[in-house]
Amino acid sequence: MAPEQEPRRLIIVSNRLPLSVKRDDGGFKSSLSSGGLVTSLSGLTKSTQFSWFGWPGIEVNDPNDREKVSKSLAEHNAVGIFLDNALANAHYNNFSNSILWPILHYQSGMTFDDGPWQAYQKVNELFADAVAKEARKGDIIWVHDYHLMLLPKLLRERLVNKGKSCAIGFSLHTPFPASDFWRALPVRNAMIEGLLSSDLIGFHTDEYKQNFIGTCVNLLGAQTGVPNKIQYKNRLVEAGTFVVGIDPQKFDDTLNKPEVQTRIKELEERYKDVHVIIGVDRLDYIKGLTHKLKGYDRFLDDHPEMKNKVLLIQVAVPSREDVKEYQDLETELSTIAGKINGKHATPDASPLLYMHRSIPFEELTAMYSIADVCLLTSSRDGMNLVSFEYVACQAKRHGVLVLSEFAGASVFMKGGSVNFHPANTSELAQSIHKAVTMNGKERKERYEKLSEFINTNTSAEWGKKFIDSLSRRL
Ligand code: UDP
Ligand code: G6P
Repeated sequence: MAPEQEPRRLIIVSNRLPLSVKRDDGGFKSSLSSGGLVTSLSGLTKSTQFSWFGWPGIEVNDPNDREKVSKSLAEHNAVGIFLDNALANAHYNNFSNSILWPILHYQSGMTFDDGPWQAYQKVNELFADAVAKEARKGDIIWVHDYHLMLLPKLLRERLVNKGKSCAIGFSLHTPFPASDFWRALPVRNAMIEGLLSSDLIGFHTDEYKQNFIGTCVNLLGAQTGVPNKIQYKNRLVEAGTFVVGIDPQKFDDTLNKPEVQTRIKELEERYKDVHVIIGVDRLDYIKGLTHKLKGYDRFLDDHPEMKNKVLLIQVAVPSREDVKEYQDLETELSTIAGKINGKHATPDASPLLYMHRSIPFEELTAMYSIADVCLLTSSRDGMNLVSFEYVACQAKRHGVLVLSEFAGASVFMKGGSVNFHPANTSELAQSIHKAVTMNGKERKERYEKLSEFINTNTSAEWGKKFIDSLSRRL
């Protein structure tokens, strides 16, 4: 068959792969990666075939070792792009997570340095080399997230040089801030020019999309005569909102496993006398965890009648532990958690169970399912898929979702969730009280709206809509 007639292949490119590899006892150990990007893309695997290029999370120089790692990644259709430690550190920790991540989430005060910027460009070039080498004419290439914003441009140049025409799409999994905030980044123009070599750029909400379009107009002088189309130099680029989601069936299947049912019964028995509130967040300052604990402390202060009758189970999944802000936050949170239990615990019960570790999937679904309330307090958050996952596990209990107005998900879940401003401690405390005391009828009505939303907007639908739109651009 001539290459032109072969079916279009899909290549996904992201910094994070579904597996993260670590050294272990002279060998290698891989574990499932954490975070919403991996969840949404993994949710696509049932409906769509693709190969997934990314960084394995570890330096591997020995060719035999590389082969071993590559083999284990290949079992997940993943292809490792290997980087040396110094380069990976400067790209991932120093530029992506210390400069870009804060700006994308409206955190001011980052310090720009040329070294990390050089590393960011270099890593984007290495990704472009690897993907351009593998791509075939007609392939669909879907690039993900802020670590790879220069990649569409670098990739397009290489593909053109090799005579391969491919569709390039990009999805951002974070907010995109208002143009005046983005201006604080000294390399602001190079970054958005990098993206404008895509054919289609996807955002989680209309607000992020509009911010991006406004930024292209204000900083680059791009034209937007037709809605959602950006004319820049000789290209017409489309920007769209594509609502990301989860695979709800995976949660259903897991909840129906006998061992998970047994675990649910155990947990229900253990917590039968308390209202359980659950929080699951990567340990990241954007998740508003200090606000969450302060709001909970205020709720306990304001409602002495709740003594021994409520438990917040907070899972803080370790994340980006080489970045100082994340280390400092971990110290701060353990201190606040200790203070809350010191102040409110009795010989009969502690009000807070704080876990700084990741949780196996089956245990996580059991915990979601027994919780009466899920409390998410992000100061900014691209979407927040934990909110979807909680709803997916609440068919029986109709638990209440208490969700910050600054999580992207709140745009779509307004009708069903209880919303609040995360920095408003008393509003947060009142929202917890409202959720814990809500009657069954209201809980059910709210749950039904949320359930309809998460079952309509699945990761498979998200992928299909994005790929269909992108295919039309070929
Ligand atoms: N998660 C995880 N490990 C855990 C607990 C949770 O990987 O120990 C998953 C969680 O199930 C969810 C994802 O991490 O799918 C978090 O996604 P979200 O969009 O809420 O936030 P992000 O981490 O991407 O900022
Ligand atoms: C967010 C980002 C993802 C990232 C994830 C986990 O969801 O948008 O790109 O993969 O956090 O963070 P990590 O730094 O471990 O990849």
